[in-house]
Formats: sequence, C-alpha cells, structure tokens
Amino acid sequence: MIKKILFSFIFILISFSSISQIENRKTILLDSDWKFSLGDLKNAPFLNINDSTWETVSVPHDWAIRKPFDLNQDMQWVQVKEDGDNESKLRTGRTGGLPVFGIGWYRKTFEISESDKGKRLFIEFDGAMSEAKVYFNGELVGEWPYGYSSFSFELTRFIKFGQENLLAVKLENKPESSRWYSGAGIYRNVRLVSTNPVHIAHWGTYIITPEISSEKGTVTIQTKVLNQTQTAQKIELVTEIYNYKGEKVAINKNSNSFVGEKRFTQSLKVRNPMVWDINTPVIYRVISKVFVNKVLKDTYESAFGFRTIRFDKDKGFFLNNKRVKLQGVCLHHDLGPLGAAVNYRATQRQLEIMKEMGCNAIRTSHNPPSPELLELCDSMGFVVMVESFDEWKNGKNLNGYNRFFDKWAEKDMEAMIQRDRNHPSVIMWSIGNEIREQDEVDGKLTAQFLTDVCRREDPTRPVTAGFDKPTGALKNGLTDVVDLVGFNYKPWLYKKVHEDHPNYIIYGSETASTLSSRGVYKFPVIENKNPWYDDYQTSSYDLDYAGWASTPDTEFAMQDECKFSLGEFVWTGFDYLGEPTPYNEGTPAKSSYFGIVDLAGLKKDRFYLYQSRWSKTPVLHLLPHWNWEGKEGDTIPVFCYTNYPKVELFVNGKSMGIKEKSTDGKYEKYRLMWKDVVYQPGEIKAVAYNNKGEKVSSEVVKTSGTPANIKLTADRSTIHADGKDLCFVTVEITDKDGNLCPNAQRLLFFKIEGAGTLKALCNGDPTDLTSFASNYMKVFNGKMIAIVSSSKSIGEIKLSVSGERLSTKEIRIQNRITK
Ligand code: GAL
Repeated sequence: MIKKILFSFIFILISFSSISQIENRKTILLDSDWKFSLGDLKNAPFLNINDSTWETVSVPHDWAIRKPFDLNQDMQWVQVKEDGDNESKLRTGRTGGLPVFGIGWYRKTFEISESDKGKRLFIEFDGAMSEAKVYFNGELVGEWPYGYSSFSFELTRFIKFGQENLLAVKLENKPESSRWYSGAGIYRNVRLVSTNPVHIAHWGTYIITPEISSEKGTVTIQTKVLNQTQTAQKIELVTEIYNYKGEKVAINKNSNSFVGEKRFTQSLKVRNPMVWDINTPVIYRVISKVFVNKVLKDTYESAFGFRTIRFDKDKGFFLNNKRVKLQGVCLHHDLGPLGAAVNYRATQRQLEIMKEMGCNAIRTSHNPPSPELLELCDSMGFVVMVESFDEWKNGKNLNGYNRFFDKWAEKDMEAMIQRDRNHPSVIMWSIGNEIREQDEVDGKLTAQFLTDVCRREDPTRPVTAGFDKPTGALKNGLTDVVDLVGFNYKPWLYKKVHEDHPNYIIYGSETASTLSSRGVYKFPVIENKNPWYDDYQTSSYDLDYAGWASTPDTEFAMQDECKFSLGEFVWTGFDYLGEPTPYNEGTPAKSSYFGIVDLAGLKKDRFYLYQSRWSKTPVLHLLPHWNWEGKEGDTIPVFCYTNYPKVELFVNGKSMGIKEKSTDGKYEKYRLMWKDVVYQPGEIKAVAYNNKGEKVSSEVVKTSGTPANIKLTADRSTIHADGKDLCFVTVEITDKDGNLCPNAQRLLFFKIEGAGTLKALCNGDPTDLTSFASNYMKVFNGKMIAIVSSSKSIGEIKLSVSGERLSTKEIRIQNRITK
C-alpha cells in the first residue's frame, strides 16, 4: 500500500521579501500499514517485489505472540550454570514456547514530495528484536543487533523525491539467543522525523539540576545542535522551561556561528522549584528552539524533574534528602499475553498494580526498557534501575549478546544512557546481571570499561551490577569498580560484606524468587525448596522457592536487620513468558511462577504479603480459599497477611484465637498463621483490632456453591478510540450468591461486537497452552482476564462471555475520544 507522507514546506510571505521557511521538525509515527513476512527473502529490500500477499500489520508488532504454543519450538539441550546445572539438560518452555526464532521482514512504502527537498529525514526505532538491518530504497542504511536498544539512522541521501520510497527492515532471532521470551519483530515504536538542516540532534539535550533549594533550582542544559548545511551560520538557541501548568518559568538565549556540530551549555534558574518525588512526581518541560536570522528552524521537547539522590554506605538511599527504602520489583519487558509489543495502557496497568502494592522501585531486568515505561515511572513516581545486559562476552546463550559485545557494548550503553538520562525516575545504571565474568581474573577490566562509559555519559548517577557469585566478584575486584554493590539472592552476606568492606554501598538487586500459582494450595504446608508437584503448579502458601533463592520473609528479616541496605528488588513483580522454573525440563509450562502477580495481572496471595509490609494501606488478607470438599476434618492452615496489630480468626463463628506478629520466628514476624484449623465448610473470618483493642476491620472467605454465574468487571468503562487503548475485563465464576468459585476451571467462549476487538485472553496458568489469540479459554481457579482493544471508530463495544451451564454475560465498553 502506498502511503503519502507529506512534509510540505510552508511558504511565508514577509512584507518586503519572500522568504521560504522550511517547516519545523515533523514527527510521524509509523504505526500502521506495514507489510510483514517471515523468511529469508533476499529481494525484500527492493521496491519491485510484490508484497501484496504479505500480512498487513501495525507496529508495535510481535510476530510470535498470537501464534500457537509448541514446546518443540524452544526445546534445547543447555547447561544453565546459574541454576546450578552440572551438565546440559533438555529444557522446554525456556523462551515461552512461541515461534520467536527465524527471520522476519517488514516493508513500508510512502511518497516524499518534491517540495521536501532540502530537509533531513531520519528514522527512529525504539527497539527492534533483533539484529536489525534497515534498508531505504534498496540500500543498507544501518544495522543494530541488540534488540533492546533504541537507535536512529539518517535517510536523507537515499530519498527519491516525488516518488515512492521503500523502508524495509530485516530482523533475525537466532535459536538460543535468549534466556526468556524476547518477543520478535518491530515490537516498539518507529518514527519518521524530518527536520531543517539546522536542527537539534537525536537525544540532543542533557539536563541536570546541580543545585536545588526551596528558593531556586539551577538547571544546566547541554544541547547538541547540528548545522548540516555547507556554510557556517549564526545559530541562536533559545531554551525555555515550563512548569506543570504550562507556564514559562525560565528562558536562556545563546548564539554561535558554526557548521557541523556544536554543543551549547546553558544555565537556567527556576524560582521555587517543585520537587519530583515518589508521591509528588512533578515534571518540568524544556522547549529548545533553534533560530537562524531570527527564523525558527527547529523545536525540540524534553522533560526533567528537580530531585536529589544520595546513596550512603551506612544509611541507605536518600531521595530529596529523605531516606527511602527501595521496595522494588524486577520486571521483564513482556506484557504477558500481549507479548513484547509495547502498549502504553498495559505498561501503565502493570505499574498501577505495583504502586497499589506499595512498590516504589523498578529494575528493568535485564535490558534497556521501552521509553513508555520510563515516561510512566516519571509521571507515576517510581525510581528505576535501568539495566544494560544479561551477558557480556562470556555468554549464557549460544547465540546471545556475547557475539556482539566487543563491537557493540559501548554503543549500546551510550544509546541507553543518552536516551534515558533526563528521566528523574532513573537513579542508577546497571552494567549487567549475573555476568559470568565475575569468575574471571580480568572481569574487572570489562566492568571498569562499562562503568567508565556510564560515568562519561552521565556522571550524576551511580553505577551498579547484580552479582550472584560474590566470591568471584569480590576476589576479582568487580565489586570495587561499581558504586553500588547489588547481590542476587545472598541476603546472608549483606552483614559480612558490610563489615569486611565498610565503603561498599549494598542492596538486594534480586531477591526471593518465591514460586506460586494463583489460587493453588499444596499440603502439607511446609517450606519447599525446589518444589515439584505432579500438576506442575506451585503453592500459594508462599513457602515454595527456587533452589538458589528464599521466601520473602528471609529477605525481609535481613533488610530489617541491615539498615545500611538500600532495599531490595524482588524477582519478580509480574509473571513473565519463559523460564518456567521449577518445571524447566520436559513439562508443559510456558511461563514463570515467580511473579507476585500472575501473567494475566491477577494478584496472587503474595501481593498482600508485600503490600502489608510496603504500603500504608490497611491490609487484611486471608488464605487459602475455603472450598475443600473431601477434606472435611483435615487440617487446613489459615494464614493472614496484614499490617493491623492483631487479628482474631473465626471458623464458622468459633474463635481460633488472636494473633499478632512476633519478634522472632522466621515466618511469625511477617505473617499470622493458624496452623491447626480443621476444615468444615462454611466461612473463615478475620477480625482486625487496633492497638487499643477495638475492632477495626474484617474479612470473610466463604465456601462457595456450584458455579452459576459469570461476573465481568472492566477496569475502565470508557476507552480511547485510537485503536491502541485497552480495557482489561476480569472474568470470574461465581455461585448463585456471588461468591467466587475458587476451584472452577470452566471453559468460556468470548464474542466481541462493535467498535473494538478481542486482543487476548489470559488465565495466569503457566501450564495452559491455549493460544492467547483464541476466543475460548478455561478460567484458572475461578478467574481470568479478557483484553479488549479499542478501534478507531467511535461507538460501543460489546463483549459476551458464555460457558456450559452458566448464563451468558455481557459487558459494554464505550470507545470514545477521551484525550
Ligand atoms: C536469576 C536471574 C534472573 C532469573 C532468576 C530466577 O539468577 O538473574 O534472570 O533467571 O534467577 O530465579
């Protein structure tokens, strides 16, 4: 399909002379009407092939996510040393069992008008998975192997004015190139940018705030301006700062005569700056304007915040001079059933759920994130560790990043930092996760090299790494190179390392790796390292954990004891595709069990354990469910996750006693547990008391009857009619009185009508291999979600859900222009 993209000049007549002013910067999102095909298609870069039979797709696009699962797809013999494997094992589901591997081609055709001669044209990719080769009109414009990096190429010299132009992108994912689901394709946004030859460079501003007080904030802005004409010209840079109300609060003007590149450094003062903080994430905007002979040539927008960060070896992390314990989670980049394809609303929903839990920090494990994630962290108030790599030269994957490290590591680090260094949310750069060079005598040299790149590109933030092999990392000096020493799963070492190395600033870069399946409870209720159950599930009593890991409580205790620790990043906030530990070998599992929240974004019990510790919201959560037909008379332990001082448990009206958290006992410190409750159907009820002994809250879990109804709850009743916005509908099976049926595994059918489409279904069951793109799926333990996508036509969307012996339910969502 030929699309006309017009960058037409605007002709402005000025009274005494006619001056042609080249229109300002124009940015076009290339999101629709791409042609896509799989295969090694040698002629794909050239205009004269017929792509009419190719699939028409929109970008962001993940070519694998809507395909059927097949565990043959990522079956591999591999030794995962980090998991303690002594030899190679046949692993399945490691990358999610979806067809991410192979070569994929994308093509997009558009006309550039004759009148656009004289402009400069650039293509910007927020990320393409992976080994991108970009062609314009048959010529190779550039390549970028690392699928998580953002990059830009200039297209100007390849343009055919007044004719069709062809952008073609080749991507390739080699087998054994990742430890998790990478996604496949142009999975982030792509923009076409046209500018005047005199313009601000890509990621052209670097904004720092060297002084902040309540009276005044100093902002130093370095701006890279390009004059791509042949002659030196006097160029004026006008930089303006706007507050959140859109009021101009500072301005600075500077001029210089040059050709080529020039970096301007300007200092601006903002009176009474409003501080960016976790609870008040105030953003300021910078508008940079470039003039030649008083004619505006370019306008460029950036954002920043006023905030200070400080890391103290004994006292921890300070944000704006206030101690903040990092209550963090690690997040992979996939969006569960939506795959790797970036979606603003889905990212926002993930962060909303994390925020509700009291989480204040995100680690982008183990790669540079989407720009959307950081924009949302800026606006929602999270601090972020942006991480670069999961492997250096000594790879973990046969075809992993190790193949590119020597040639590309510096470029990838530069791209990451130059893109992200204005974000107030970003507080540290990570040079790597569990890199194998920890065990090498020369590992320090690489660590030093990467740290130097970080410090060169951004001296305002500390550099860190996540170490899982402290013996090697300490012996080989890698821990001496970084500013913040992160330990993966080594809580017992914090104190010892702090004593032995009093100058180290220490924290848990990866913690817990507790395993649970939402709504599944296993008996007997015991601590279980490396659990294995025949149904390939794990227990939501939150006592199952990976061999190298621990339950949350072990980490809590060490964090409580080690006041010097910056805090922790739990593995993981959300379940993710791939890495189905402990069921890695020949099992039907496709996704992780580590998440505090499942793959569908539904809360597991563990959510409330963290919430009771991290959040000020009153929490009173009982587990397990109370539907244990056949276990009448058996012992079913009851746990309560709470931040109330005391709780009394009643079973069918009979008190089981009041409990409060104890000062000792591994689990008693953080959970209330009635271990000897004898099951009879009916109800369990928690009554919470305040310190004065007054009843302040209660929570009831009832034995439900047989499934009778489908309950649908939309997260929003109106969504934006842009074809991208999403509505997440929670689907529950209830009895005739509205109680959740916690054992229901009913197959449901979904039908969508009107102004939207059914984007994906997901039940959070790691073992369910039903495609996310189906219109049917089983609920998992009574619940699942349906994700509805808006279309561009305004109107009503109707979702109907039916299932055998259940009355069909409908929900209506309005698709409107909302912004
Ligand atoms: C860590 C690793 C993570 C993930 C996790 C699972 O060793 O850094 O990427 O694999 O283990 O527990």
